[in-house]
Amino acid sequence: MTTTLNDLNPKNRRAADILIANDRGGYTVPSAKLYPFQWNWDSALVALGFSIFDPDRAWQEVESLLSAQWDNGMVPHIIFWKVEKSYFPGPDQWGTADIAHNPPTSGITQPPVAATVIQRLLAEDVDAHRDRAAKLLPKLDRWHQWFLDARDPDGLGIVAIMHPWESGRDNLPDWDRPLSFIDTAGVGTYHRRDTDIVNEDERPKNNDYDHYMALVKFGRDCNWDTKTISRDCPFWVAEPGMNAILRRAERDLIAMAKLLGKDDIARRAASRLARLDTGFEKLWSDDVGGYVTLDLRRDEYATGLTSGSWLALFAGHVEPKRAGKMATTLSHWLTQVNRGVPSFDPNHELFDSIRYWRGPVWAMVNWMIATGLIEHGETDLAERIRADTEALIEQSDYREYFCPVTGRGGGGSGFSWTASMSLYWASRPTGDVISSPVLTPTTPEQEAK
Ligand code: GLC
Repeated sequence: MTTTLNDLNPKNRRAADILIANDRGGYTVPSAKLYPFQWNWDSALVALGFSIFDPDRAWQEVESLLSAQWDNGMVPHIIFWKVEKSYFPGPDQWGTADIAHNPPTSGITQPPVAATVIQRLLAEDVDAHRDRAAKLLPKLDRWHQWFLDARDPDGLGIVAIMHPWESGRDNLPDWDRPLSFIDTAGVGTYHRRDTDIVNEDERPKNNDYDHYMALVKFGRDCNWDTKTISRDCPFWVAEPGMNAILRRAERDLIAMAKLLGKDDIARRAASRLARLDTGFEKLWSDDVGGYVTLDLRRDEYATGLTSGSWLALFAGHVEPKRAGKMATTLSHWLTQVNRGVPSFDPNHELFDSIRYWRGPVWAMVNWMIATGLIEHGETDLAERIRADTEALIEQSDYREYFCPVTGRGGGGSGFSWTASMSLYWASRPTGDVISSPVLTPTTPEQEAK
């Protein structure tokens, strides 16, 4: 039986109303004032919330996202559907009008969680959604291939990011050192708009922004040419969050391709996945005791674990001894804060409980971590994270993120992915949503069967 808006309990109804309020007709803005366009992974995750009460609208969300795919396969991180002067950096700074299809977009991508979302939309009712999914599979296939061609041209099996924004975790302490080598002299003056809307202590610092803008300039100056970027971009870093999400996406793409009889796509995805599964091991650091960021320009590991480190469990099989060690470390983190999961190691000197990705808790990352934990049998820990997420929203409403110490909300209000995750998680509680065959280590031969 289909759930309609009227079937939702008051709490879920409020979450649904936020999605409806942020709907701009076929795409959803993350937050009305702070982020007034379509963002890549926000949009995908928002589709999960819509799927609970309006499946058609959920499909539209991912269809509009993938409609902005570039000719080279990249799906951009922002799609500027409308002119909106209140956002910086806008289309002029990105300079992609000649490359992007109408409308203009940013010049970078974001974590490709879309395949995982589409697999879930499809699983809700395979017969009803088969045709829509089938149209999107070739786009996902081309986007995933772009990651390997453009962001791993040397075949290491780990994809790099060329900008902190590409990771979706803008000011993670992991970027501090790699960014410190970048010359910001040519950036000039500009007016940030985000700090007109949100407290400065909740946002990246001005010095970070100078570096972000230097990298936007680098991309614009080379016309976002992927060869120039991989060869010369001063920021070239591989991090566990992006790589884990891509591995999960390949697994979910394979599952869909097999289900829909698209054997060629299944085969290609399987061969990419084999490369990524092997390469991921390069991100393990014995010194830190987990998966960490690797600065590929300097061959240097970051010194702290982040919430992206736990996404290794979401990516696929982690052998029991290592998964157990990860669960122990994560449990220890949770003893250091009131509500988890902090986005950065709460024991590290660079932890900052309210400044964006340097400590705060994000609902959609929690959902991915909890999913991975369940798939590795860590159900108690997963339940703690689910309950923490619910309590934070109860205390501070559908904010962009939350302080792990006080529970205070930070950043934007009426935030789409927080509402979406809350609604989806409550409606598809642990256990019955997890259908992907992710737990067996795969070889191309196994996956293609
Ligand atoms: C910030 C976040 C990013 C998100 C965007 C829109 O840049 O770091 O992950 O996609 O806002 O919500």
